[in-house]
Formats: sequence, structure tokens, C-alpha cells
Amino acid sequence: MATTKSDLLRQPIAHIDIKAFDARPIVDAMGGMAFQARNLHRAATILDGMIREPEGGVILCLAGSLVSAGLKQVIVDMIRHNMVDAIVSTGANIVDQDYFESLGFKHYVGSPYADDHALRDLGIDRIYDTYIDEEELRICDMTVAKIAAELEPRPHSSREFIGEMARYLVAQGKKTDGIVLAAHECGVPIFCPAFSDCSAGFGLVHHQWERQGKPQLSIDSARDFLELTRVKLAAKETGLFMIGGGVPKNFAQDTVVAADLLGKQVNMHKYAVQLTVADERDGALSGSTLREACSWGKVDTAYEQMVYGEATTTMPLIVSYAFHAGNWKSRKPRRYAEICG
Ligand SMILES: NC(=O)c1ccc[n+]([C@@H]2O[C@H](COP(=O)([O-])OP(=O)(O)OC[C@H]3O[C@@H](n4cnc5c(N)ncnc54)[C@H](O)[C@@H]3O)[C@@H](O)[C@H]2O)c1
Repeated sequence: MATTKSDLLRQPIAHIDIKAFDARPIVDAMGGMAFQARNLHRAATILDGMIREPEGGVILCLAGSLVSAGLKQVIVDMIRHNMVDAIVSTGANIVDQDYFESLGFKHYVGSPYADDHALRDLGIDRIYDTYIDEEELRICDMTVAKIAAELEPRPHSSREFIGEMARYLVAQGKKTDGIVLAAHECGVPIFCPAFSDCSAGFGLVHHQWERQGKPQLSIDSARDFLELTRVKLAAKETGLFMIGGGVPKNFAQDTVVAADLLGKQVNMHKYAVQLTVADERDGALSGSTLREACSWGKVDTAYEQMVYGEATTTMPLIVSYAFHAGNWKSRKPRRYAEICG
């Protein structure tokens, strides 16, 4: 019997709950080992240091397919427990994956060995071992188009537009918790500097096509940069917790240089952790070391740590460590979203 779409879209990806286990004993034990085990331990203590920094700001940078892979709840927990103050992400994580789930859709357990022609015929998209229903993704694209059509036709920062996406969820009574919703409720701004390079882009292309010759909504990424620079100016010391690399890594790092260009004296990012599988040999941004970023005046070297490993295995351990250390409990919410507008 032929495999059907519902046969393949059966088992949803489960989001790991870092509150349900205390990773401190294993991470502490890894601190006495070598290689990436010791690096991971140091990264966990640095993340905890960012959280303990009085008046400091923690900026979480997200690249790769993290939400579809089961890391959504880790990020939501960081937001809801005051462990992160601003997010810079690819659009894929925020729109195609998080917003998609908040609209009521899911990612499914699949196989990297699937017949991709068969998947294509069934309208199933594949991210390594994960499946997505293309028809549902189209609904996500068109939800963005619908939101754009209802807003004032002018340039918006991605942060502003994502805030409107959250308002739409609230207005529609969508209750599935997610990054967009939690960030909206907790005053955590989300920036997607390449906002059109994801599901949102399809919705916005549709919007601008329909509005040819009429006033249109657009995304102003320079405004995103200015708003994120305001966050850097507001935070006395900043820490970057970077997953993957890509545009979010550089965008957040560059706020130090932007502030300098505006004639403002700010410190380099005091803390920086990057979890990645990229290395430095190709000279590209994603694998460039945080020490290298010091030569550009962006990241200080006292509290920096690269961890080489795939993020679904490293991020839950590090965040669980910082969560159970509990230093977020005495932190005041920064609510940087309120200074961006
Ligand atoms: N499936 C998707 O990721 C997807 C879907 C739609 C659109 N896009 C768009 O493509 C653009 C590029 O995305 P990107 O920046 O994620 O590109 P990318 O995949 O090149 O990732 C950037 C870097 O992060 C590292 N990385 C990614 N996932 C990792 C993991 N799980 N663990 C450790 N390191 C990891 C990679 O090695 C790479 O060096 C973005 O604008 C995004 O919105 C991506």
C-alpha cells in the first residue's frame, strides 16, 4: 500500500524541557575533562555570568534550524525566566518554525534517507530528519501577507512587524506558547535582519505585488540595526549567546562599532559564547573565532568561548545549567522592546 501524507506526518518533534532535568552535575563533570566537554562547561559558566551581570543585557543569536529541531521550549524558557533580553535571529527560526507552530502546526519526525521525489509529490518539505507540511507553510506565508495588509503602509523594523505578528496571535486566540508570543509578553525585542529570507518574505512579496502603484509596507533593516544599537547603548555590559553563526552573529556584534560611529563610548561585548559546527579555516563569519572578533573591536576576550558541537546536543545542557543555577531569579526584566520604538 502506498505511503500517505498522514503516515509520514504522524509523530511530532518533541521540544526538550530543560526545567525537567538539572544538567549541573554532568556539566560540572565535563569541566574536569578535555576538548569540547571542558569548553562546554566554561560556556555554561559564562552564560551564567551574563545572567549575573548587574544591569547587563543578554542577547541571544539564533541561526540554523533550531526551533524545528526541538529547541523551541529552551528559548521560550530563557525568555519567560528572564535569561535573555533581546533576540537576533534568522527569519526561518522565528517565522517558518516558531510562528508556524504558534499558528497550530507542527514539525514531524522524518528520515534523512527518505525518497525526496515521493516527499515532493506528497507536498512534504524535509529538513534533514524532519518533515513539514508545505500546505501549512503556505498558510504561514499568507498570514504574514494578511498582517501586512492590515498595517500602515510604511517601512517597519522587523522588530516592529514581529510585534504585530504577536498581536495577531493574541487577537486570534492562539494559545500555543512560542518565542514570538513569549517575547511580546516579556518585552524582549526580536530582530530578524534578513527578514525577507524566510516564510515572511513570501508574504511580503505577495503584499507588495498586490499593492503595486499603491503605498506598501516594507521592512527597514537599517532601522533594525539602529534599534539594536539602542539596546547596546542601554545595557551597561552585554553578553552574546550565539547559536550557529550567520547574519545574527555579525549583526549583534556590530552594535559596538555602530555605537562608536554615533560618537558613543560603549564597551565591547563583555561575554560571548558560540555553539557551532563551523570552524575558522574558510575565513567566513560563522566559524570565525570570538578572539578574532576582538581584533575588530567587537568582543572582549576575558569571557569568550566557542563550543564545537551540534546545537541540539549542546544548547540544552548549557541552558539547563544556567536555569538551575537560578541566578535569573534576582534579575530585573530589562524590557528593551520599550526603548526600541
Ligand atoms: N531550514 C532553514 O534553516 C531555513 C529555511 C528557510 C529560510 N532560511 C534562511 O536561510 C538563511 C540562512 O540561514 P542560516 O544563517 O541558518 O544559515 P546556515 O545554515 O548557513 O547556518 C549558519 C551557521 O550556523 C551553523 N549551524 C547551523 N545549524 C547549526 C546547529 N544545529 N548546530 C551548530 N551549528 C549550526 C552552520 O554550520 C553555519 O556555519 C536565513 O536568512 C534563513 O532565514 C533557512
